Amino acid sequence: MARHIDILEHPQTAIDVATATLAEGLPIGLPTETVYGLAADATNPAAITRIYETKGRPRFNPLICHMSDLAMAERYAVFDPISRKLAEAFWPGPLTLVLPLRSDSGIHPLATAGLDTVGIRVPQGFAGDLIRAFDRPLAAPSANTSGKISATSADHVDDDLGERITLILDAGASVVGVESTIVKVEDGEMRLLRPGGLAASEIERVAGKALKRQKKASAAIEAPGMMASHYAPGAAVRLDATEISENETLIRFGTPDIAGIEKAVAVLDLSAAGDLSEAAANLFDFMKRADATGAATIAFSHIPDEGLGEAINDRLRRAAAPRE
Ligand code: TXA
Ligand code: MG
Repeated sequence: MARHIDILEHPQTAIDVATATLAEGLPIGLPTETVYGLAADATNPAAITRIYETKGRPRFNPLICHMSDLAMAERYAVFDPISRKLAEAFWPGPLTLVLPLRSDSGIHPLATAGLDTVGIRVPQGFAGDLIRAFDRPLAAPSANTSGKISATSADHVDDDLGERITLILDAGASVVGVESTIVKVEDGEMRLLRPGGLAASEIERVAGKALKRQKKASAAIEAPGMMASHYAPGAAVRLDATEISENETLIRFGTPDIAGIEKAVAVLDLSAAGDLSEAAANLFDFMKRADATGAATIAFSHIPDEGLGEAINDRLRRAAAPRE
């Protein structure tokens, strides 16, 4: 069983035990503002191998490397002017930048899946403090079995990976609730590799230019983890529901008219006020709760595609995708 340490009650113990565990090459459950990460020393091949094994993640899918600040990130990657502007505006925060890796960076090729680029993010709060104390980048994918719903609480991490790791740091529920937005700047063009916890419109406002959306096929090559079925609960998932059938749990957004709602096994509301940030924060926890109702299908009402709705709908399309 994994040891839990509450970072608010015992911040120094959390730092001390976490740095010692990371120095042993072991991955830990780490809270960030987006989702919980499964974090390990990005320069240690044995540690990175344990991340892939613990998650059952394919090794061609590169990991995001987390840094304490922009100055640290500049030691590992080369910044173009647009990427630097975005980093200055949004770090620490839910933005990952894919950048050319410095050849002498020390980040192990297992973390980048052998690519000549690296995905870098500076997380808010405790995770940044821990990286500063450890003084090395932390490779950290979301702390869930590959293909399953991401963890937004220490209990989610424990339920999924608790038997396979020794330490989970607990900071309560993740504030943002969906993973970071991933952007790659190439030839002065900004490409959105994954919509996430930072709205695309915010990035466009700061950069003064449009983000290019991925076409499906190239997205699979650019961000290998983003393809096919992902975020899959046990139940089937149905989107844009306007009526409910037997044996379905409804997850709604606001209070749309849903025919047959009285038949629902359960009804969960992502945000009664229709707030997309609140909906994002609730999304993965509600998917797990809906799954636990035992319904054969989880039906979602329509969610608008603006702001954080773009990230929510991206995750829901993957959750609803045909499974292997
Ligand atoms: O919010 C987040 O980003 C969370 C927290 C823990 O920081 N992490 C996260 O990691 O979502 P993960 O491994 O679940 O997703 C990482 C994504 C994958 O789709 C991967 O393909 C992409 O980032 N990625 C990483 N490095 C890349 C690179 N060099 N080029 C293109 N895509 C990359
Ligand atoms: Mg993930």
